[in-house]
Amino acid sequence: MILEVKDLSKKFTQGGRTIDVIDRLNLNMNAGETLAILGPSGSGKTTLLSLLAGLDSPTSGDITIAGQSITKLNEKELTSFRGENLGIIFQQFYLFSHLTALENVALPLEIINDKNAYKKAREALKLVGLSDREDHFPKEMSGGENQRVAFARAFVVEPKILLADEPSGSLDTKTGHQVMDLLFDLVKRKNTTLVLVTHNEELASRCQKQLRFT
Ligand SMILES: Nc1ncnc2c1ncn2[C@@H]1O[C@H](COP(=O)(O)OP(=O)(O)OP(=O)(O)O)[C@@H](O)[C@H]1O
Ligand SMILES: [Mg+2]
Repeated sequence: MILEVKDLSKKFTQGGRTIDVIDRLNLNMNAGETLAILGPSGSGKTTLLSLLAGLDSPTSGDITIAGQSITKLNEKELTSFRGENLGIIFQQFYLFSHLTALENVALPLEIINDKNAYKKAREALKLVGLSDREDHFPKEMSGGENQRVAFARAFVVEPKILLADEPSGSLDTKTGHQVMDLLFDLVKRKNTTLVLVTHNEELASRCQKQLRFT
């Protein structure tokens, strides 16, 4: 089991009111499995991904990734755990505007002191069809190109689990399809476990499992 979620709950308290966003969720995933998370706005999809990424901590329950209980790690341990095990494609995790496409992709490898960071980053950009955009800054690329750079950056560490929140949300239908085809192709090729948040039923049906929030 690559991912085990046990009795996971998350409550938010705001102005004296408590909201039960996630209530005793249980979930297991094997390596290479794909899961879509569906549900209306405000139902807790992004909250769950943030918990899985260790960017937020649960009110109760436990998350185990590759045998490691992430709820027991401190900030520093979490940062390196994330760097080595997780690929994160979140809207709020966009590319760094002052770094080129190549530098953005190389960054997660540099953080874990990979000596071949730039070589691997070049290969990853090639895989997403952007070899000729290596030296472009994010503002010098289209939305779909930026999204592909974000995919390359998420895949470059060969993560065990890829967490993606509405990865085609801001793209037109055709470009959205292209980057999703690319995503599923990369997932299959690298046997990556995928947790994908989407409002799109067709996209969700491309995943082996579906989890619906209400
Ligand atoms: N830090 C926070 N403090 C208080 N409430 C929060 C916090 N973060 C999220 N919430 C609330 O938790 C609920 C779930 O939010 P979440 O972002 O997980 O929804 P979502 O399913 O991703 O929605 P969308 O489809 O709109 O992205 C919302 O009602 C939101 O207002
Ligand atoms: Mg969300």
